[in-house]
Amino acid sequence: MKQDIRNREDIRLLMEKFYDKLLADESISYLFTDVAKIDLEHHFPVLVDFWDSILFQSDTYHKNAMKPHIDLHQQSPLEPHHFKTWLGYFITTVNELFEGEKAELARQRATSIATIMQIKVIEMKNNR
Ligand code: HEM
Repeated sequence: MKQDIRNREDIRLLMEKFYDKLLADESISYLFTDVAKIDLEHHFPVLVDFWDSILFQSDTYHKNAMKPHIDLHQQSPLEPHHFKTWLGYFITTVNELFEGEKAELARQRATSIATIMQIKVIEMKNNR
């Protein structure tokens, strides 16, 4: 039986396996590698802080997670298929590694944040 997400090490593992999938898929990887040109050594700790705050109220993430995505969208449009792909890999990765209350919370929050993010991006498009 799989365990639930228990701590930052588990979140780090979740992020690494999730990004393995994202970065192996050319329909979305270019946004990370060519457009945002992320440095994974810098990016992973931020993602861990973000999910640690959501799942365990660690209060380690104090930035606005929407902002970099709005900036990204201005450089290269984020389309509905990107959100579908992102969320699909996130949920698949959670399901492969974990099960329990926190795993369910992670799937729910990822789904709601992705939905809000997509709405914000569509609003921007309409206001151009
Ligand atoms: C179309 C879907 C998405 C794409 C292509 C995407 C891509 C990216 C990229 C390229 C960055 C790095 C930005 C930079 O540092 O310049 C980033 C940062 C981040 N993403 Fe996403 N993302 C997506 C959806 C999401 C969703 C739904 C969430 C949350 C549930 C999320 C959480 C984060 C967080 C926490 C960061 C770090 C923000 C910071 O530096 O404070 N992303 N994303």
